[in-house]
Amino acid sequence: MKRILALSFTIALAWTAEDPATLWTTKVQPLLSERCIQCHGPEKSKGKLRLDSREAMLKGGRELGPVIVADKPETSPLLKVCTLPRDQELAMPPEGKGKPLSAEELGWLKAWLVGGAPMPAATK
Ligand code: HEC
Repeated sequence: MKRILALSFTIALAWTAEDPATLWTTKVQPLLSERCIQCHGPEKSKGKLRLDSREAMLKGGRELGPVIVADKPETSPLLKVCTLPRDQELAMPPEGKGKPLSAEELGWLKAWLVGGAPMPAATK
């Protein structure tokens, strides 16, 4: 019984930590705002890409198209460009314009994408 309790507690914790809507609000949106929006937002849209709305992400950019791929979230360009080797042209943020995302930050992005990439309207 004790084990079962411990197990459900663990599952509940994991669930809270990875609830994708919460992840968006607490981690992913702040991450994009801080590291990406200056080049992919209202002021500049490098590569013809904006990352400040769901519509814009689904429309995507010049080279890679939609940056969120619903049926294969883990291959979404949004995540992929952040894991490219630094010498690649599309490695984001670009060389010299910010350090690469940490493993933890990549984990948030991935969990959010796999969770269906929700962007609760209230947080916009
Ligand atoms: C200092 C400016 C700058 C920052 C910061 C930046 N980018 Fe970019 N991004 C660019 C430029 C410039 C291009 C176009 C590169 C090219 O076409 O050769 C681009 C292209 C892209 C593309 C490909 C668009 C397409 O289809 O052509 C994606 C996806 C992308 N960026 C995602 C991101 C993400 C995610 C972040 C934050 C982690 C980010 N970028 C941060 C400048 C930036």
